[in-house]
Amino acid sequence: MAATNGNTNGGNVIHDSRFDPNFTQHVIDATGPKATPRMRKVMGSLIKHVHDFARENELTVEEWMAGVEMMNWAGKMSDDKRNEGQLMCDVIGLESLVDEITFKLAAETNDSATASAILGPFFRHDAPILQNDDTIVKDVPSDGQIVYMHGYATDLVTKKPVPGVWVDVWQASTNGLYEQQDDNQQDCNLRGKFKTDEKGYYGFYCLRPTPYPVPNDGPAGKLLELLDRHSFRPAHIHIIAQCDGYKPVTTQIFDKEDKYLDNDSVFAVKESLIVDFKPLKGNPKATLELEYPIVIAPQQGK
Ligand code: BEZ
Ligand code: FE
Repeated sequence: MAATNGNTNGGNVIHDSRFDPNFTQHVIDATGPKATPRMRKVMGSLIKHVHDFARENELTVEEWMAGVEMMNWAGKMSDDKRNEGQLMCDVIGLESLVDEITFKLAAETNDSATASAILGPFFRHDAPILQNDDTIVKDVPSDGQIVYMHGYATDLVTKKPVPGVWVDVWQASTNGLYEQQDDNQQDCNLRGKFKTDEKGYYGFYCLRPTPYPVPNDGPAGKLLELLDRHSFRPAHIHIIAQCDGYKPVTTQIFDKEDKYLDNDSVFAVKESLIVDFKPLKGNPKATLELEYPIVIAPQQGK
């Protein structure tokens, strides 16, 4: 972020505005010798950008306090089922940006592995382990369409199938709620962990995902309202694929027909993650099919 009334000289902050030109450097220089190099770098940069932001916008005490109160509100609303601080970051695109930075750095030149997308706040570590071709739909909603989702995990480099990949999936129900948000859904409804077999195959039954609003009864919702934005996410299924010796991938896949693909409230859609649900005939358990290959990259040195 460039300061309107300042410039930099060798990384030091110089301000030719009417505000104290030495103040920001003075705050940065208060960092003690025991701070780690990464802490010194990240916090020094954060202080510089936040001070520049305040000067650039001539932030008033009332505006700053409104921001502080919003952060406090987010803290008070958060618990083990709800992470409002993360949601605040999501609606300003920060989780998606950090995801892109983290996984671009980790992937180096591996462009054709399955792309990553944000984890979001509704992941649970304790999803049930299920057998291939089981269903994750414990409570079938009357408006739900059942999908047979399946595919093979392959190695990005050798192109060979990878057995033993854990495929952890979760999704919201058609009322737009994840099970931990909804007393009417059974525990761990619409969640499951599957392991690819010796041919690299995984498969399960799930719902065709539907769009839903991110929780909008807290500060993130207030922010969306103040910015005149909607809170909807395009229909998606969350996936984490991981296997010893491979880089884990956290991602989401999005329904090609969804009307929110171009304006996801948390900016997570990537072209390569858009999928096509196809009609399925001859399978009494599902009316739709989604074939989804998972391509994972070996860890360095494997
Ligand atoms: C989700 O996809 O579950 C999600 C992601 C970011 C914010 C809220 C929900
Ligand atoms: Fe989601």
